[in-house]
Amino acid sequence: MNARVFSGIQPTHGLHLGNYLGAIRHWVRLQDEHECIYCIVDQHALTTLHDAEQMRSNTREVAAALLACGIDPERSILFVQSNVPAHSQLAWVLNCVTPLGWLNRMTQFKEKAGKHRENAPVGLYAYPVLQAADILAYKATLVPVGEDQKQHLELSRDIAGAFNRKFGTEYFPLPEPMIAGEATRVMSLRDGTKKMSKSDVSDMSRINLTDDAATIARKIQRAKSDSILGIWYDPEKRPEASNLLTIYAALAERPRAEVEAEFREAPFAEFKKRLAELAVEKLSAINARMRELMADPAEIDRILRYGAERAAAIAGPVMEEVYDIVGFLRP
Ligand code: AMP
Ligand code: TRP
Repeated sequence: MNARVFSGIQPTHGLHLGNYLGAIRHWVRLQDEHECIYCIVDQHALTTLHDAEQMRSNTREVAAALLACGIDPERSILFVQSNVPAHSQLAWVLNCVTPLGWLNRMTQFKEKAGKHRENAPVGLYAYPVLQAADILAYKATLVPVGEDQKQHLELSRDIAGAFNRKFGTEYFPLPEPMIAGEATRVMSLRDGTKKMSKSDVSDMSRINLTDDAATIARKIQRAKSDSILGIWYDPEKRPEASNLLTIYAALAERPRAEVEAEFREAPFAEFKKRLAELAVEKLSAINARMRELMADPAEIDRILRYGAERAAAIAGPVMEEVYDIVGFLRP
């Protein structure tokens, strides 16, 4: 099968282990088989981040992290969303075929808008429509994401279908989500019932790809545990142990059941020690490469400019066809 792959990541902050295990690792692997397009979605980040310096530095940092993780800017297209006008252009067209009721169901909007929904920016509400535009501007068919994006992806399919129906065409393929691997939802190190997230106030809750070896080890040593002897998977009763077990299996690229069998009788401290060693081993190469890249921002910018040119060469003609389908005069 030869799919066109598209996925995006927000530059609201640096990347963490949840992003890596839930999404980026799969992005890297997919490059071997498919045409891949990876986008740093700064326009999505603008829904919550209103600090120009932060936006610029996070965008470069996320680019460096993706490159360090193994995204190859020759084989794949790596670029920044705002550099390709088709995303906003298509988002507007899709805004005009998406019923309000569909957006009202989005749980991420409800979470992010909080209690004061009246004060939430319109962009936060329309966020999933821009996400659909990202994917459809490339007529992408496979979208690797973590579990939290499932609802947005279903909406993208519905929006593609709505456009096709309204204009009596089969122009847009319906994109398929790919939610793969053991670690589709990595949880906080401080609370096994909460998602590991860049918005958590406690830095101890997550492992950042910029953390050095000592920091990674310390965060794992101090991760919340329980006082039961032995490690096994039971997300209901033992969310923290289950999360750490899942992280171990994902980092080691071994089935969870196999890792579980190995640590079934191990004390928590022993398990954490082994997990810390594994995490340091797997993440330190990424960390070192990231530092090198971050030292040369001009090179990062060059890579992103090259990516934007290639992305625009695909999305530009799609946009022309869409404008034609909806009847915009192109004199
Ligand atoms: P974001 O950082 O929200 O732009 O997310 C980028 C990608 O990482 C998306 O595919 C998310 O689904 C994925 N992701 C974010 N947090 C986690 C997590 N805690 N566990 C697994 N995947 C995640
Ligand atoms: N909303 C996604 C997230 O927060 C990021 C994203 C934007 C995305 N556009 C996309 C993911 C298109 C997949 C495809 O993780």
